[in-house]
Amino acid sequence: MRMLLIAGARPNFMKVAPILRSIETFNRQAKDSQPIECRLVHTGQHYDAQMSDVFFQELGIREPDFHLAAGSASHAVQTAAIMTRFEPLCLDLRPDWVVVVGDVNSTMACTLVAAKLGIRIAHVEAGLRSFDRTMPEEINRLVTDVIADLLLAPSPDACENLRREGVPEHRIILVGNIMIDSLVAGLPRARASGILREKGVSKAGYAYVTLHRPSNVDDQTTLSAIMRVLKCLSENLPVVFPMHPRTRQRLSDFGILCAPTGPLKIMEPVGYYDSLCLTENAKFVLTDSGGLQEETTYLRIPCLTLRPNTERPVTLTVGSNRLTNPAKLPEDIAHILAQHSPMGQIPPLWDGKTADRVVEALLAAHSAQK
Ligand code: UD1
Repeated sequence: MRMLLIAGARPNFMKVAPILRSIETFNRQAKDSQPIECRLVHTGQHYDAQMSDVFFQELGIREPDFHLAAGSASHAVQTAAIMTRFEPLCLDLRPDWVVVVGDVNSTMACTLVAAKLGIRIAHVEAGLRSFDRTMPEEINRLVTDVIADLLLAPSPDACENLRREGVPEHRIILVGNIMIDSLVAGLPRARASGILREKGVSKAGYAYVTLHRPSNVDDQTTLSAIMRVLKCLSENLPVVFPMHPRTRQRLSDFGILCAPTGPLKIMEPVGYYDSLCLTENAKFVLTDSGGLQEETTYLRIPCLTLRPNTERPVTLTVGSNRLTNPAKLPEDIAHILAQHSPMGQIPPLWDGKTADRVVEALLAAHSAQK
């Protein structure tokens, strides 16, 4: 079985790492069966050392076999750049499968290319829906899932969404949450991180903040309102805020000034283990990231998600997540600060073994269609 595994942006890297590991294990143990020939493609959607390289190093991901260097641009230009660079690769290599993860532009771009060339597609993290088409990721999810052949879902709600959209049952497989594989494998290293000392904070003595969605950072009034709440919060509880390049750019565009020192600690994006360490030890997390909603649920740390909806409803119904907005934020923060016990439960199949189920599902689908 010959496959291309696609990674493009920061949240993809922790999803491909366990899949690569699981394939290596399968190949080492394959006696009578053929090995899986897997090539790793980096689209280059994210390219900064802190947005890409650090994750390859920390997660032990091997050098990509192909780097498409697509870079940043508008959605159409970025998607087109990935597609035009990926197509010749597919024509040249003619893989049996293209495997995509998550919901970023690279996920959709490579799916479109493979589909038109008649190459089978597996989508890991299929079926998540925010039902909010103003989110670019929702468009990516819808397009990817309507085209993909094998839909590997993280939770029962995702399977239900796919069924409702008319996907035949045999294409849907509940495999669990791939992010949690990297989390479970990475906890010992995260616990050895020196980031709390380095930033001068202690266990449960700070809020961990990450924000990068266009809906929060691209509008001046919204971003100013959020920054005002964070400034006010930091007078009682230090705020650790590693900043995505998009957010930093907008603060500068809007002339919103942030002192580099003081209890509102704005810094460069952090690596994977430092982020996990900051999550596990925070009093609470404030975020608009999909991954952090899941990581806080697994670690049972209160999470406020600054969005009107989430494509990960299991983090609300089972986990420790709650949706908020800039107006409600001070009240929601006060509520969380008054709380002391760990929150929520870990959803089923968030067990660190999803990558093995992904590989098993791929092998079964491959032999069924040969
Ligand atoms: C992308 C994903 C989003 C994911 C996020 C994680 C899409 C539509 N969005 O959003 O789902 O949650 O990644 O970070 O695919 N930039 C840099 N260095 C980089 C990458 C980007 O400076 O390495 C800057 C560029 O100015 C760029 C901007 O960040 O224009 C946005 O990057 P882009 O990949 O378009 O989207 P993200 O906001 O990162």
